[in-house]
Amino acid sequence: MTTPTSDETGPARADDAVVASAATVTAASTRTAPAAGAGLTRRALLVGVGAAGGAGAMFAAMGALGLAPESQDRNFAPPQRSDFSLTGRGAAKVVVLGAGVAGLTCAYELGKAGYDCTVLEASGRVGGRNLTLRAGDRLEELGGETQTAGFEEGVYFNAGAARIAPWMVTMDYCRELGVPVEIFVNNNASAYVYTRGMTAPARARTARADLYGYIGELLAKASNAGALNRRLTADDRERLEEFLRRFGDLGPDLAYRRDSRRRGFETYPGVGEGVSVGTASSLRDVLAAGTGRYVTMDFGYDQVMPMFQPVGGMDTITGALADAVGRDRIRTGTPVTGIKNLPDGVEVTHRDGAGTGVVRADYCVATLPPHLFARLPHNLGTPVTAALRTPVPVSAGKIGLEYGRRWWEIDDRIYGGATETDLDITHIWYPSYGFHSRGGLVVGYYNVDENADVYTGLSHRERRNRALTQGKKIHGEKYRAELRSSVSIAWGRQPYIEGGWASWPSFGSDYALLQRPAGRVYFAGDWLSHLTAWQAGAMESARRAVTDLHHRVLQTPS
Ligand code: ALA
Repeated sequence: MTTPTSDETGPARADDAVVASAATVTAASTRTAPAAGAGLTRRALLVGVGAAGGAGAMFAAMGALGLAPESQDRNFAPPQRSDFSLTGRGAAKVVVLGAGVAGLTCAYELGKAGYDCTVLEASGRVGGRNLTLRAGDRLEELGGETQTAGFEEGVYFNAGAARIAPWMVTMDYCRELGVPVEIFVNNNASAYVYTRGMTAPARARTARADLYGYIGELLAKASNAGALNRRLTADDRERLEEFLRRFGDLGPDLAYRRDSRRRGFETYPGVGEGVSVGTASSLRDVLAAGTGRYVTMDFGYDQVMPMFQPVGGMDTITGALADAVGRDRIRTGTPVTGIKNLPDGVEVTHRDGAGTGVVRADYCVATLPPHLFARLPHNLGTPVTAALRTPVPVSAGKIGLEYGRRWWEIDDRIYGGATETDLDITHIWYPSYGFHSRGGLVVGYYNVDENADVYTGLSHRERRNRALTQGKKIHGEKYRAELRSSVSIAWGRQPYIEGGWASWPSFGSDYALLQRPAGRVYFAGDWLSHLTAWQAGAMESARRAVTDLHHRVLQTPS
């Protein structure tokens, strides 16, 4: 296990900023590095407040300091060994259930303060839904089928988590753990949009030009005809028109230039002027084609470019976390069979290679999927079971299609990004790594809910054939003919996971209940955040559990 050195004597960190007075500290001031050795640190203040006044006083003080994790926890202060120096207490023994992103983050953060963590992982590997498949990797599914990735060296398939937004805490862990990141192309004007019935897919740039063009035209003409006079002054209307001309590439008559060069080219300009893709269809036809799907696909705060991925595969993150925790602390192939609160600790029973076993610890952090936890025997009470049953598992699936030739780059000039369809494959993703190398891997579908259900029930061979039939509508015969190998995943059939993610119908009282420990058992996972289905959600939730647990340990009489 990597044991970070105590910073007791080291330089003060930004998140240990000097506290002049709790009432006057603002979030901005916590970003300022203090003068070494001056005053009382926030951490020391909290430890003191907690020791004197208990959890309520501690959290009140955290709120005053702007530390309470009401949203993304920008002020997370990892537990550290020096926290115990004022209290005379020591780090506790913690059993962490699950070696996915949440479990590993918990063990990593607690380990910084010397907690004695044991991580029990049911499956044979760490990472959970952070799963990267490479040559020779085997993928088991509930129901019997096991696939083996036949990829060439250097080709990988992020079968689960695949992209990271720059504001996500995942990026902070990449920085801290030395995991290099590169751009994940989430939106590509050269990719396609395809709607059933189209004779040929449209390029995303063409779809965008037409939608912007016609929307600009409608609005500019409506404004020009006085339809907005009650909302806008003459000056406003002038500014709006000036913007819409640029937004839509409008002509002097405020009409969309249907031959706009923004629509793209069959043959791009060089010494010659190029051959354009032609003139836009009517607004009615553009709307009927549904190609606006591409225009809005990355409008969400969590999808907009730039996005990132770790170099070499998403599991670089969980690999680095597991190394930092200490591989010897992580017991894979150890499914939990029961969880019990005892008066002075917790008891977790499990299966393992030797048969069965028991782990006793002071505290437990459970990061199991809620729907699986709900099935386990435990003594945490029926409201906990009911709450665990509330989040609904969501189907999600992907297929990795490996090709020996990067035809999407060579023939289609697509470098990363996604094609959007209304087919059951939903998306086709092109790789954001290995540009210009010989072969590569396309994600032939990434679908959820009922579209994922269509594939979940099929054998791999059937999934592949269906995905190829669909993808051929966009890319033609080469999509089938040039395939080298493939692997598909139905997350609903992944042992010990059984779902892409779990969604709360509403973030209500059940959500609130599981934010708190049940006795000595804490809960963590992306499902206990507002970032469901993101590694960042698992990490934020883990930080919250770790913070709560650590403060409790600091207050517990020794
Ligand atoms: N985090 C999931 C994705 O990137 C939902 O698609």
